[in-house]
Amino acid sequence: MTENGDATPLVQLENVNKHFGALHVLKNINLTVSRGEVLVVIGPSGGGKSTLCRTINRLETINDGKIIFDGQVLPEEGKALARLRSDVGMVFQSFNLFAHKTIRENVTLGPIKVRGKAKDEAGKRAMELLERVGIAAQADKYPAQLSGGQQQRVAIARALAMDPKMILFDEPTSALDPEMVQEVLDVMIGLARDGMTMMVVTHEMGFARRAANRVVFMADGQIVEENTPDEFFTNAQTDRARDFLSKILTH
Ligand SMILES: Nc1ncnc2c1ncn2[C@@H]1O[C@H](COP(=O)(O)OP(=O)(O)OP(=O)(O)O)[C@@H](O)[C@H]1O
Ligand SMILES: [Mg+2]
Repeated sequence: MTENGDATPLVQLENVNKHFGALHVLKNINLTVSRGEVLVVIGPSGGGKSTLCRTINRLETINDGKIIFDGQVLPEEGKALARLRSDVGMVFQSFNLFAHKTIRENVTLGPIKVRGKAKDEAGKRAMELLERVGIAAQADKYPAQLSGGQQQRVAIARALAMDPKMILFDEPTSALDPEMVQEVLDVMIGLARDGMTMMVVTHEMGFARRAANRVVFMADGQIVEENTPDEFFTNAQTDRARDFLSKILTH
């Protein structure tokens, strides 16, 4: 529940189905994300985790069912959809920064173009956010001049600059060299503590244990299990989840 007492869920998926041709990738998904909640989504490759994220901001359409975001059924298209998209930040495995823009410009572009913010104001806010993710000193550099971990932190600052109601993270650390994973997870843990609503596809169990309220295990397009991180990691209920966990724990 938020400070102003809004107890309605931020996201509700009701009987959501998605097909890619003959492939049924989301099978009757029912899922609720509360305001301020941190949800970790984990499961085997091809299970539908990325598709699930992408349906929430309508980067993918759904075939049937309903997605309600902040009390409104997701619009199919048009201005309402654009507004909704800008309320949902997205951070991908591949940082997706604009290569020919500086770090600062990467962070100010959305607020100026989409939110109509004044340049000065957007610039000031960008510096605050870059400070928060620990890379203010790099503001005038270009993405290629930064490490992967730094670039991913810029991507997080860029998402935050839009003042999103929620941020979706799709394997944000899986393209990083091992020594850079923690600096990105630390920023995410900070966001979680500050009350950001987050859905995070990750196999980083340390993060799940420290920051997640709930773990959702997805396989073959279905939500197979949902539990607290502690329960899930120590006492998984299904063979599927136990089998998956044994693989990621021993790899
Ligand atoms: N645009 C697309 N067209 C056709 N099939 C797709 C498309 N995107 C995903 N798929 C298929 O949908 C299924 C679910 O894919 P998705 O990327 O959501 O899985 P995932 O759980 O994120 O996997 P991974 O852990 O490998 O990222 C897979 O079988 C994938 O091949
Ligand atoms: Mg994926």
